Amino acid sequence: MAAAHPLAFPAPPGRPARLVVLVSGSGTNLQALIDAVADSAYGAEIVAVGADRSGIAGLERAERAGLATFVHRVKDFADRADWDAALTASVAAYQPDLVVTAGFMKILGDRFIAAFAGRIVNTHPALLPAFPGAHGVTDALAYGVKVTGCTVHLVDAGVDTGPIIAQGVVPITDADHADGGEALHERIKTVERQLLVDVVGRLAREGHRIEDRKVWIPA
Ligand code: GAR
Repeated sequence: MAAAHPLAFPAPPGRPARLVVLVSGSGTNLQALIDAVADSAYGAEIVAVGADRSGIAGLERAERAGLATFVHRVKDFADRADWDAALTASVAAYQPDLVVTAGFMKILGDRFIAAFAGRIVNTHPALLPAFPGAHGVTDALAYGVKVTGCTVHLVDAGVDTGPIIAQGVVPITDADHADGGEALHERIKTVERQLLVDVVGRLAREGHRIEDRKVWIPA
């Protein structure tokens, strides 16, 4: 029998949950979170936004919202372990309750995952466990599946293998094969932003417990 409640995240009592959001690109999922936290009933605040590259729209969105930002580029460190240590330290300095990887295109290191175990939320543009990795949209198209979507899940040591919190389904049309998946990705992102905002808010307000890979958020 599976152990009961092997891992849990209790919602912070009496205050908004502190979020650090990590981005690599356009940051539309970050923007959805920025918009959501404007409502105090949402139950979370963004305390910092981190990136693995500079000059991206995601950082501009953070700066426009008056949020603290930091950048750690892998190429600025001697090796991946040093980058992992720097990213872990920068995020830890903001004392987050939850870390959200919203289009962060680097695989997190062991130190980072150990520091925030059970509290890292990722969004992926496919229905996991199908099509993990950096090309979830085009891999689904190339395989010929008829529906795809997005998955919000907790991060573990594997690539997109952590316990699933929620999924959204998006049908694939014949026309999607003509444009390399751009329109499909946009339709996925429309569903994804709403799903991410919904999940992060529920985690912030209610917490979660994980039992045998199943993530339970109290109703
Ligand atoms: C999102 O669709 C996210 O799922 C994907 O990048 C996009 C970021 O969009 N992430 C991955 O593919 C990670 N493997 P955004 O920068 O506009 O939020």
